[in-house]
Amino acid sequence: MTERHPGEQISPLSESLPEILPGERIILRLLALEDVAELHLLVLDNLDHLMILAFIAKEPMTLADRQILVAGWADDHRRGLGADMGIWLNDTLVGMVGIHRRGPDDASMEIGYWLDERSEGLGFATEATQVLCEEAFAHPEVEVVRIRADLSNDRSRATAERAGFRWVGTEPTPTAQRSLTGTNVQSVFEIHRHEFDDQWRSRFV
Ligand SMILES: CC(C)(COP(=O)(O)OP(=O)(O)OC[C@H]1O[C@@H](n2cnc3c(N)ncnc32)[C@H](O)[C@@H]1OP(=O)(O)O)[C@@H](O)C(=O)NCCC(=O)NCCS
Repeated sequence: MTERHPGEQISPLSESLPEILPGERIILRLLALEDVAELHLLVLDNLDHLMILAFIAKEPMTLADRQILVAGWADDHRRGLGADMGIWLNDTLVGMVGIHRRGPDDASMEIGYWLDERSEGLGFATEATQVLCEEAFAHPEVEVVRIRADLSNDRSRATAERAGFRWVGTEPTPTAQRSLTGTNVQSVFEIHRHEFDDQWRSRFV
């Protein structure tokens, strides 16, 4: 998921993101304290699968620490800084997707995602990215939505491109965002407001 850079000043959205966003097959719903136990088990089941993500360095977390983390996400959402949402399929948590502001004068939002390994290969991350992207551009202050993925992360790259994002280059991964297995170089993918036209959805597979 997209993690905040230490000391980073963020400009909040003028209106917070919705708590629930429906997709065609999945529903995105803000993670709340009552979801922590399910999230906890899902992350612990996927530690090896999620090794490419920076947050895994803090795992395995205790349930109590995860409750604090999720409470912090809810607080960030209230303050208009973004949303950390579960990807739900028939009331079962199958992954997470997050969208966050950068700042302080940044007109962008950044999306990150992960899926339960058993739910890969079905298009759920692509669908979640589409839904969040549409929501992001409903906020007039957002001009660009971005995805960053480790250079070695072919599946994430495929998801970004499948969802209509363009590869715009690479950059060194900031120290706080480095994972245990990554290359410390990240690919950057973007979609700009002017590209978000009537044909946008039809570019999806
Ligand atoms: C990155 C990650 C979320 C991608 O998962 P994914 O299931 O491949 O992603 P998508 O939702 O884009 O699904 C695409 C796959 O579903 C298939 N698919 C089936 N139905 C589909 C549909 N309706 N729409 C789109 N794709 C569909 C595609 O053909 C593709 O299959 P393939 O990879 O066998 O070619 C997953 O690998 C993951 O959790 N990795 C670890 C964490 C991580 O790297 N996160 C990203 C950090 S930047």
